Amino acid sequence: MANKWVVRPEGVIMVSLVLLTFSCTRRVQGLPFPAPDFKNCNNSEGCCPPPYNGALIQDFYVFDPTLPMRIRQPAHLLDDAYIAKYQRAYQLLRELPDSDGRSWKNQGKLHCAYCNAAFYFPIDKSRLEIHYGWLFFAWHRFFLYFHERILAKLLDDDTFALPFWNWDNQSTDPPLANVLPYAFANKKYQNKSSSLYDVNRNVCTKRPNIIDLQSTLECVNQTATLKASLREANNRIMYNQMVTGAPIRRLFFGESYELGGVAGLGAGTMEAIPHGTVHFWTGNPKATVEFADMGIFRYSAYDPTFFAHHGNVDRLWEVWKALPGGNRKDITDSDYLNTEFLFYDENGNLVKVKISQALNHISTLRYKYANVPNLWIHSGSDAAYKSCFPASTTEINKMILNTHALNTSNLNTFANSTITFSVQRPAKKQLHGEEVLVIGGVNVTGSEFKFLIQAFLYFPTANVNTSITCPQFFGVLSNPALTFGDTVPDSKKEWRLALTSKLQSLSMDQFSHVVVTLVEATGSFPQYLQLKLTAKIVYFEY
Ligand code: C2O
Repeated sequence: MANKWVVRPEGVIMVSLVLLTFSCTRRVQGLPFPAPDFKNCNNSEGCCPPPYNGALIQDFYVFDPTLPMRIRQPAHLLDDAYIAKYQRAYQLLRELPDSDGRSWKNQGKLHCAYCNAAFYFPIDKSRLEIHYGWLFFAWHRFFLYFHERILAKLLDDDTFALPFWNWDNQSTDPPLANVLPYAFANKKYQNKSSSLYDVNRNVCTKRPNIIDLQSTLECVNQTATLKASLREANNRIMYNQMVTGAPIRRLFFGESYELGGVAGLGAGTMEAIPHGTVHFWTGNPKATVEFADMGIFRYSAYDPTFFAHHGNVDRLWEVWKALPGGNRKDITDSDYLNTEFLFYDENGNLVKVKISQALNHISTLRYKYANVPNLWIHSGSDAAYKSCFPASTTEINKMILNTHALNTSNLNTFANSTITFSVQRPAKKQLHGEEVLVIGGVNVTGSEFKFLIQAFLYFPTANVNTSITCPQFFGVLSNPALTFGDTVPDSKKEWRLALTSKLQSLSMDQFSHVVVTLVEATGSFPQYLQLKLTAKIVYFEY
């Protein structure tokens, strides 16, 4: 099924097959996923892990008090000795035979199977997909935990911790954090014989290029001016996806997903962007299999950068919970907490875990992150920039009067790459919950997918030249964010944008309508983007 971060035509065919299957079988919605049986794996791309040998599957015993606390370090600050150890760990992993569940290939396959809806449940034929919804953070936390323990075992060093790629850190002080880390990019490690080398990396990743958290795969020559604006944009993306865009758990973790449910109803802010765009930036669009390795589910875990990338995603989960606001908490729904997965542990045995065992990683999994500054909290904030469209209350009321609601019976096109519409806010305010703008009807047809849609509030003149440093910027959609799982029909694909916190941040909470401007920021409205836009404002519980 879905094998890429992008929607492909073959995905569309599969969607109809899946829907057909769903409608003919019993649905058992509303139960947590039990651990998949590895025998029930079906995938044409070779994702299924080796058939299980039948040995007893152990329950994960939560924590081993003899295990030393491991400190995960930022990859840009590793010393030579640590890089040598890191490289030796992957060397040993690559040397394991494929009959071993821990082997390099089987680790890649395990990710592929879980991330490609390969495991199914005979009870209703529903498939387990750990992307585009609330399973994303916890599953990857476990995957990294076991991967790290396997490497530690091979090194015979229980203190071994996976480094993390601190791409959200836009500091200009060397060594830079927002470039491909030295351990992967230095000549020595760019050498085919290095275990940290991967043949399929995008030319964008060449140092001294810095990361682009809105990557649409274009690599342009990064002049000093361009780098400065990329840094600002990266900070703004981080701030939006972590702070104003994700004030509540449903927006941060994504939509719920239980046994019998439709896979991938919606990724959380961070999963979509920057998690997805970092994959995109790193994979090679010109590889024999396009976007391999990092840009494709099937292959992404074959590039060791995968684990460094996900270390940062995992760290940011913890950072998000510590942000102020009072509503940034873990999910407490029992279907979430009781969802089970199977992993190969450091001894090559299959163990069963529950999401509840992942939440307090310091006490149960015995690892921590080294402290790094989260600069975007201030330098990416709305307050750090001047308004790009200052307007009085009277002017805004006039703007509301002069702006139409969406004509939902039309196919919308972006005239000059923009479209502006108004959406009425609920008349009666709910005291609890977050007001959320839900935009539907962004469909990608055909096999092209380069687009980037940025959203602005009360800024009808925003256009392709508008910078997202404008405080009015409040969301971004690109292909890695749109996929939402290929099993989701177009009619259910939605883009969710937090309003309460944004309107407060702009001090603009007093109007009857919001005025939204969408800008297709690559500048050329692509034919394959079919917009039959719908927009509504709803409340999400805290
Ligand atoms: Cu399962 Cu970043 O991927």
